[in-house]
Amino acid sequence: MINAIRIHRNGEPDEMQWEAIELPAPAAGEARVRHTAIALNFSDVNVRRGGFYITPPSAFPLILGNEAAGVVASVGAGVTDIQPGDRVAYVGVGGPFYENTGSYAEERNVPASCLIKLPDGISEHQAAALLLKGLTASLVINRIYKPKPGDTILVHAAASGVGLLLCQWAKHLGATVLGTVGSAAKAKLVLENGCDHAILYRDTDFVAAVKEIVPSGVRAVFDGVGKDTFIPSFDCTQPFGMLVNYGNASGHVPPLDLLLLAKKGSLSVCRPAYSSHVADPTDYRVACDELFSLVKRGVLRVETGSSYALRDAAQAHRDLEARRTAGSTVLVP
Ligand SMILES: NC(=O)c1ccc[n+]([C@@H]2O[C@H](COP(=O)([O-])OP(=O)(O)OC[C@H]3O[C@@H](n4cnc5c(N)ncnc54)[C@H](OP(=O)(O)O)[C@@H]3O)[C@@H](O)[C@H]2O)c1
Repeated sequence: MINAIRIHRNGEPDEMQWEAIELPAPAAGEARVRHTAIALNFSDVNVRRGGFYITPPSAFPLILGNEAAGVVASVGAGVTDIQPGDRVAYVGVGGPFYENTGSYAEERNVPASCLIKLPDGISEHQAAALLLKGLTASLVINRIYKPKPGDTILVHAAASGVGLLLCQWAKHLGATVLGTVGSAAKAKLVLENGCDHAILYRDTDFVAAVKEIVPSGVRAVFDGVGKDTFIPSFDCTQPFGMLVNYGNASGHVPPLDLLLLAKKGSLSVCRPAYSSHVADPTDYRVACDELFSLVKRGVLRVETGSSYALRDAAQAHRDLEARRTAGSTVLVP
């Protein structure tokens, strides 16, 4: 028997139960991973609430989460490139991240093809804090808009897990970085992590604040907040600028009138998903290797703001939804 956090229906964090379950031996092609660090992601909240994106109806009981790191305990038939004792991590188990969840558990059977072996110098805690958030930053920077020296970039929710990595990476590439944040403590954090200017968007009009700093507007906007920030950001983006909406922490962006992009200065918009970035297994491994290298070189610093015991995952969800978390949060079995 192992322990896991399960929900029996969609709803509030109170639906999350710490339960003992049977875990069968790994099937052919699978490895059994003893988790030592489990990622907390905003999409875990969306899956818990239900009705997220295009998720089909859930089959209950459901174990939340889809990203973790740990040590291989045993392998099923046909698995040759992963061995017991290997330190590994994974992000999803094939298919969309929010489907086939199951990482809020002490152990899990995972397709061996989804496992990334961790190099020396990368801890399991770092890997769990880094992979999905880092791959999302990689998606934005490597596939959609790569900041260059002279650019001014606006990062919304700059103290979030993805936001902090975007700030560090954009600064490293030579951009001037503006970040919106929800509190003075988060402002301090982002200024230590690549932001040149922090804007308290709950207290001030962020469009006016950006225009005061950069009267001509920013070259690109990286936005994981969505409903509250995306369309207003058109008014502080320079002509021909690029706006990337990668997340919906405040809700989905409303339907967009394409002509608005012409009126606001020939803007471009994109709504990327990490799963298309790493759909090809080689791309997945190359992107992970780049992240590990950036961490080892000190370009990316994984802020593991806080960790919670796995059995306290409901409190982690409450804190995340109340905007009390900063950086990446990890659950420890
Ligand atoms: N496209 C993809 O493939 C992909 C991949 C990974 C993540 N995502 C999405 O990207 C977004 C950010 O992910 P993350 O891991 O960086 O998030 P996170 O660390 O959980 O941070 C979310 C932050 O959003 C801000 N926020 C603004 N309005 C909010 C609201 N109404 N409720 C809660 N938070 C609000 C808060 O920061 P302040 O207090 O500073 O406002 C909060 O701390 C999420 O929507 C996530 O699902 C998308």
